[in-house]
Amino acid sequence: SDPDLEGQFESTIARDQRIEPRDWVPADYRKTMIRMIAQHAHSEIIGMQPEGNWITRAPSLRRKAILLAKVQDEAGHGLYLYSAAETLGADRTELTENLIEGKQKYSSIFNYPTLTFADVGVIGWLVDGAAICNQVPLCRSSYGPYARAMIRICKEESFHQRQGYELLLTMMKGTPAQRKMVQEATDRWWWPSLMMFGPPDADSSHTAQSMAWKIKRHTNDELRQRFVDMSVPQAEALGVTLPDPELKWNAERGHHDFGEIDWSEFKAVVSGNGPCNAQRTAHRKKAHEQGAWVREAAAAYAAKRAGGDDD
Ligand code: ACO
Repeated sequence: SDPDLEGQFESTIARDQRIEPRDWVPADYRKTMIRMIAQHAHSEIIGMQPEGNWITRAPSLRRKAILLAKVQDEAGHGLYLYSAAETLGADRTELTENLIEGKQKYSSIFNYPTLTFADVGVIGWLVDGAAICNQVPLCRSSYGPYARAMIRICKEESFHQRQGYELLLTMMKGTPAQRKMVQEATDRWWWPSLMMFGPPDADSSHTAQSMAWKIKRHTNDELRQRFVDMSVPQAEALGVTLPDPELKWNAERGHHDFGEIDWSEFKAVVSGNGPCNAQRTAHRKKAHEQGAWVREAAAAYAAKRAGGDDD
């Protein structure tokens, strides 16, 4: 290793400046960044499935148009993030293969089923709300292409969050059956949303190094607490109960206390044994295989253009 290059890298980080694609970085920084960006990209791509499930059954044209736009945004986020991973030397085809073969993770949250249309609203409110909470600080992440991608992605996530909350407000003004649907969806998604922030700090293998490199700006537990604190008044405004009897304001801490997360469930879902893991990866694999002809045609067209043909 070259002490000059290492010194430059360290001083860029110390001065809170951005690392750019052509800058020298330690091998572990590159590895961590590729891992995190790839997992994030995979999450966006897999994340299209739970909600995509409702596009054909949306209750009105308006809801269908909104949902289509949202799912399309997620595809865009995924592709944008794969491009960011490519600036670090990752190969997009390999990343997709890693996802399909289960060699790389994606967010635990997308392994839960969407049982009713209220789930679409709750995903917007809680899942996208948690994503924003986690991703806004990443706009200041030390890796330039990722940090810049986060700015645009967070703007679109805010729209997603609002559409979900608005959908739920509408349902809560509806029939008792609709209100019940919203409450049940909230009950099912609350705890998995808290798990999105990752393991507790004491068990988080990457947090310390990622904080030192200013890739992460807050720990998993800090962001989880922030999310709990912001969700409580939103639940009250909506008129739903969060399914945690231990949830209460702690004036001394200036935060809400909350119950123990079932980490055994988290571990099971992350290691491939959640309710929908097999279905999600199988669906992605099938879509990838069915898209082979498009990739072949695009490659043939590109080769032809490179060969100088006019048409
Ligand atoms: N689902 C699946 N895997 C997870 C989750 C989760 N909710 N949380 C943590 N993990 C994994 C980590 O990827 C890591 O696995 P690995 O070592 O095999 O790569 C392991 O559990 C240990 O966790 P940490 O040491 O805490 O990992 P890290 O420092 O990377 O923190 C976090 C995890 C908070 C998710 C971080 O990577 C991050 O902020 N990523 C960017 C945001 C993102 O990916 N969001 C995706 C969901 S949001 C959406 O797409 C709408």
